[in-house]
Amino acid sequence: MAGWNWPSDPYIQFGPISASLTALESEYGVEGSAVSAYVTGMATIRQNRSVAYLDYNATAPVRAAVVDAVAETMRVAGNPSSVHTAGREARRVVEVARAQVAALAGVRPRDVVFTSGGSEANNAVLKMTGAASLVVSAVEHDSVLAGAATSGLPVFRVGMTADGLIDFASLETALEQAPKPALVSVMLANNEAGMIQPVAEIAERAHAHGARCHTDAVQAAGKIPLDFKELGIDYMSLSAHKLGGPQGVGAIVLAPTAPLAPLVAGGGQELGRRSGTENVAGIAGFGVAAVEALAELGDMDRVAALRDRLEAGAVAAAPQARVIGRNTRRLPNTTCLMLPGVRGETQVMHFDLSGVCLSSGSACSSGKVKVSHVLTALGFSEGDAEASIRVSLGHATTEADIDRFLDAWHALVARQSARAQA
Ligand SMILES: Cc1ncc(COP(=O)(O)O)c(C=O)c1O
Repeated sequence: MAGWNWPSDPYIQFGPISASLTALESEYGVEGSAVSAYVTGMATIRQNRSVAYLDYNATAPVRAAVVDAVAETMRVAGNPSSVHTAGREARRVVEVARAQVAALAGVRPRDVVFTSGGSEANNAVLKMTGAASLVVSAVEHDSVLAGAATSGLPVFRVGMTADGLIDFASLETALEQAPKPALVSVMLANNEAGMIQPVAEIAERAHAHGARCHTDAVQAAGKIPLDFKELGIDYMSLSAHKLGGPQGVGAIVLAPTAPLAPLVAGGGQELGRRSGTENVAGIAGFGVAAVEALAELGDMDRVAALRDRLEAGAVAAAPQARVIGRNTRRLPNTTCLMLPGVRGETQVMHFDLSGVCLSSGSACSSGKVKVSHVLTALGFSEGDAEASIRVSLGHATTEADIDRFLDAWHALVARQSARAQA
């Protein structure tokens, strides 16, 4: 096990983890038992351990004011549908939050329908607008791709340019072929590499063909300004936990004339558009997160500068590394880095051992690594796509977090070149 020193960290507790170890073992050429002894035990990190959290696109750390709002609201008894005093207080909390979320998207409060998150919002729009067919881009989130696949409607997949933007020729062909009325769904910003799609132009093309247009703005919200009307769309999906709000709450924003039947049928809450007693505390937290995220949009310049320093440092240390979508308009907080020859999964474990939380471009589910459909849609080989990581920053990211990332990156690159020379 030459050249490999296990970091000793008194704050790491031991317990089982599910991640596959084989990649780490073969990549570093270390004995499985040695890796397992350390890594299989590394389950939870005590809260008092300082980590550089660079995985905002997975979930952003919950804001302090959100924690307060959620805790306070949970002490309010009352169902928002009840007419008594307690019920009316719960209703007031929901309606204040609705106005706060509406302000984030630039719409009227009544155009906001609360859901259990971005996935539900996407599924509801894909399945419940009365469309005869769906036109979706190849880089959508799984909740759009799987939502479309389970809608029972014909689905037309639109290709991407090498820059990661929608291919308008492919969109035009899909719109011509798709049974009418179609629903077009193209995300505003990509969760893996951050590319920002020209949604206003896409909506214009969709409307010219009599189609409605939806955008999944889950990753864009709070990172770039959102203006529902300027985008000219009919539907938008949001999720609170990407803004520093609670997990398990999101919203559909819809145009006044856009139809939406309830995906969840029942008591007729949310003006008949989504049944189920509202998640009052979660919604209150969503509202507070929306207010703070909107007020802090200006801070994204600082975040972009940190991201740029990270990218420049990473490429300076490893000229073979690539920044995906670098020349495309991207989210200010996101970078997707490819280090050929080192699997993303291995990189994630390396960074984790160094106290840096980030994601690999590929998702691990059921013990298998699923290669990123986003990167393959941009024309990367499976091998290259597997060698990518996603680093995503946010409101609490500091220069020290970037230093910590770069220290770990240097160690990773040094180890890779030592192995190549061995
Ligand atoms: C682009 C995008 N859409 C939708 C979702 C799903 O949102 P939620 O986790 O609230 O269901 C995510 C979450 O990662 C996302 O990145």
